[in-house]
Amino acid sequence: MLNKKSVDDINVKGKRVLVRCDFNVPLQDGKITDENRLVAALPTIKKLISDGGKVILCSHLGKPKGEPKPELSLAPVAKRLSELLGQEVKFAADPEVVGPNAKAAVEAMQDGDVILLENTRYRAEETKNGDEFSKELASLCDVFVNDAFGTAHRAHCSNVGVTKYVDTAVVGYLMQKEIDFLGNAVNNPERPFVAILGGAKVSSKISVIENLLDKVDTLIIGGGMAYTFSKAQGGSVGKSLLEEDFCDYAANMIKKAEEKGVKLLLPVDTVIADDFSNDANTKIVPEGQIPDDWEGLDIGPETIKLYTDAVKDAKTVVWNGPMGAFEMPKFAAGTEAMAKALADIDAVTIIGGGDSAAAVNQLGYGDKMTHISTGGGASLEFLEGKELPGVAAANDK
Ligand code: 3PG
Repeated sequence: MLNKKSVDDINVKGKRVLVRCDFNVPLQDGKITDENRLVAALPTIKKLISDGGKVILCSHLGKPKGEPKPELSLAPVAKRLSELLGQEVKFAADPEVVGPNAKAAVEAMQDGDVILLENTRYRAEETKNGDEFSKELASLCDVFVNDAFGTAHRAHCSNVGVTKYVDTAVVGYLMQKEIDFLGNAVNNPERPFVAILGGAKVSSKISVIENLLDKVDTLIIGGGMAYTFSKAQGGSVGKSLLEEDFCDYAANMIKKAEEKGVKLLLPVDTVIADDFSNDANTKIVPEGQIPDDWEGLDIGPETIKLYTDAVKDAKTVVWNGPMGAFEMPKFAAGTEAMAKALADIDAVTIIGGGDSAAAVNQLGYGDKMTHISTGGGASLEFLEGKELPGVAAANDK
């Protein structure tokens, strides 16, 4: 059980508080195209403002590889955050991140003021967790708050190194929520506990499958990765996504699930297409009977029934990876049916970040889930049962 000190356990009145957020948001022509990560950071920022802290925000954005790249400046984030908070977020535009602008701005702060530093990855030391930059960041603050769950699987200066040089390092509300759901709820779930795994590749989900097989009552497999399981059982998969090298692994997982008494559900039918396109001709065929020139792009109606029935009585559900090529409406039915099924049940429903979060939000079920993770890689590593450096670095209770 992870039990970290949080912003509720400290007094920040009059203190300089450095808050590591994950403002790694998609930008197009200088405009933020998905602001979920900004909105998710607001509760912690608002709490620190109302407690009278001097709030210094920092984050990375993209991969500028250790040098200032104007198109990866956090300036648009400062502007949008000012609007979302209804108060000025002063932007400290130093290419070296901790520079004269940042120092002067911090010096001039009143209680409740907010500033944002420039992209931490403008500094080459950031991704190497170097001491010099970690110390510079720490010199700006009295207290450190890590609310950047999306970055928690990285050990960088701004989320790990800095904690060596501050006495108090706690987690924010967003990080706490991710720990509560992806960490603690998964390790100590109310049962029945069902995991749904999809997405393109078995190879990227191996550790997740292994970790979850020890915890779940039912494991549901869908998406592109299901065709490797199908092939492993002697099925024909046509041009579907297939990782030949992982067929033995898939067969082994089927055996392991049996030994552990875990119900492993695989598709029984599939929607196939003669082209990877929304205009393709489609058919529904039994799993493992896909003609040579066709490819499977979604789970079929019988599978939808099987899978939605399997989650009906669940008390905890974790879902990572879509059931089909949901970006094309023709192949979104499986993913949509699962999202709807989860929205309708009385259970703790946890959606892993990345594609699954995008799918659930895009299909309009976002507000019906208990928790949608803001982390892509971080949520996957958490589900693999790994210790995340960014979480580990915060003070224990
Ligand atoms: C993410 O978007 O997953 C996080 O912000 C981490 O970004 P990174 O993969 O560039 O470290």
